[in-house]
Amino acid sequence: MNLETIISDGVERAIETLYGEKPASGSIQLQPTRKDFEGNITLVVFPFLKLSKKAPEVTATEIGEWLQKDVPAVGSFNVVKGFLNITVNPSYWVNVLKDIAADDEYGFKKSGNYSKLVMVEYSSPNTNKPLHLGHVRNNLLGYSLAKILEANGHRVVKTNIVNDRGIHICKSMLAWKKWGKGETPQSSGKKGDHLIGDYYVEFDRHYKDELAELTKSGKTIEEAEAQSILMEEARDMLRKWEAGDPEVKDLWKTMNSWVYEGFDETYKKLGVGFDKIYYESDTYLEGKDLVLEGVDKGIMYRKADGSVWADLTEDGLDHKLLLRSDGTSVYMTQDIGTAKLRFKDYPIDKMIYVVGNEQNYHFQVLSLILDKLGFKWGKDLTHFSYGMVELPEGKMKSREGTVVDADDLIADMIQSAKEASVERFADMNQEEAEEIARKVGLGALKYFLLKVDPKKNMMFNPKESIDFNGNTGPFLQYTYARIRSILRRAAESVKEIDEDVTPNEKEAALIQKLSQFPQVVEEAGNNYSPALIANYCYELAKEYNQFYHDYPILKEGNEKTKDFRLILSREVARILKQGVGLLGMEMPERM
Ligand code: ARG
Repeated sequence: MNLETIISDGVERAIETLYGEKPASGSIQLQPTRKDFEGNITLVVFPFLKLSKKAPEVTATEIGEWLQKDVPAVGSFNVVKGFLNITVNPSYWVNVLKDIAADDEYGFKKSGNYSKLVMVEYSSPNTNKPLHLGHVRNNLLGYSLAKILEANGHRVVKTNIVNDRGIHICKSMLAWKKWGKGETPQSSGKKGDHLIGDYYVEFDRHYKDELAELTKSGKTIEEAEAQSILMEEARDMLRKWEAGDPEVKDLWKTMNSWVYEGFDETYKKLGVGFDKIYYESDTYLEGKDLVLEGVDKGIMYRKADGSVWADLTEDGLDHKLLLRSDGTSVYMTQDIGTAKLRFKDYPIDKMIYVVGNEQNYHFQVLSLILDKLGFKWGKDLTHFSYGMVELPEGKMKSREGTVVDADDLIADMIQSAKEASVERFADMNQEEAEEIARKVGLGALKYFLLKVDPKKNMMFNPKESIDFNGNTGPFLQYTYARIRSILRRAAESVKEIDEDVTPNEKEAALIQKLSQFPQVVEEAGNNYSPALIANYCYELAKEYNQFYHDYPILKEGNEKTKDFRLILSREVARILKQGVGLLGMEMPERM
């Protein structure tokens, strides 16, 4: 039973005995004691004054005395106006620590057959260019969210929709055909996704040149765009693709396979993965079918030009195009088809889409349409929307060449981690040093991106992220590695916790922090918030460092106290590791 339940049970009995009536439900308000007062947990007594018919101070004192006498966990108390500050019996904390140490799954709920099935979609790239910093935020949020939901006992399917068809990929294909001279990832030594991205840029360059030529000869921009031969060729390629032209399809398959190899490498480096990947090329026709069914059922309507629309005006939105007059699909159609296949594959209770906030409107519309089409999770699908991430130098924008590439960023982070710890690495072999630098570089990146409220636009500051003394990943990793080093030096000497130890104030505070972990995991799950986990881990590490600063561990003369501190340290390290694990971070054993 956790502390809040113990105290609130006690308060209920106290009030019933003292004032002859049970307190109204919800009237027992407990909060952590404010820093400037003595105590661990505080009861607000104002709601009980009607029952006690006494002054706040008197009421608080009466309840405090009763608790002290009858609830073993309560050690002492003090009263400040209508607030009863309770200090928990040190021996209570010893037992809490014992319980934590005995629970391998501490803070995590098990899932069973009846657990909710949540599908989390994240990443969802287009196949015409490599992943960038925005995708990194997306991937880390999605992966962490999946972990947190699992820790809350849900069954989770991590999924990805790859937008592998459309005009964008045709542009890359066309440029490669025209100017590629048969270049492959093997022949060029380039990662496949980078190779394709380069041809996408190449297309754009030639296209801009063509437009410039046309406008120079007196055409308006609109006329130039309409007359562009290059663009017409790309469209022609898309038509051929849709018609199943073997040559175009082959090229498309080959080039996409290069891209996937590249993506996989990046995903692996980031430490994220998927249980099931969907491809737009498989889903867009399903979407078209479903939309046509919708027309038959009167859910959608057709205009005179043949285009198909959904009327969302009753829901406060406008009319939404679903099929063009030539029968081709739009982005929304693909999402409808993807939803259909997903629902066929899994009995989904809840669907979460991790997608940037520039698509807020898209998901509002998708939710309504899926609901109209009868998907049971359509109405309350969650668009886990997140803001833009920038580097200090300026905005990242694709196509302008200033985009922050995910692979480059990861490599830079690992390099910075190496530079930040040259001395520490001095006595290690190369392999171990590399592995630590990898964990620290990525840890810095992950923590920095995840500690922020996802809704907020943010600046990723590489330098700040790797500072060992700030609110950073490496600070947590360093705290962990320090504890592991202490435990190594203590070797096998750690014994059971002795019942007689009396934790001091700092130790009690640390155990109290540990005792809050399950609640934090639960809140993070309810609020879809990796940031809550990050902040908790930071506070735990800070609290530990204060304790470490104030008290000896290995040099402690009293054996029982020393063992107690070692066990406390060990549990702090374990929870830190579990906690940051929910952010997808790894802990180095030394650093
Ligand atoms: N590929 C799209 C893009 O890069 C994002 C897809 C988001 N997911 C979805 N189900 N619509 O903008």
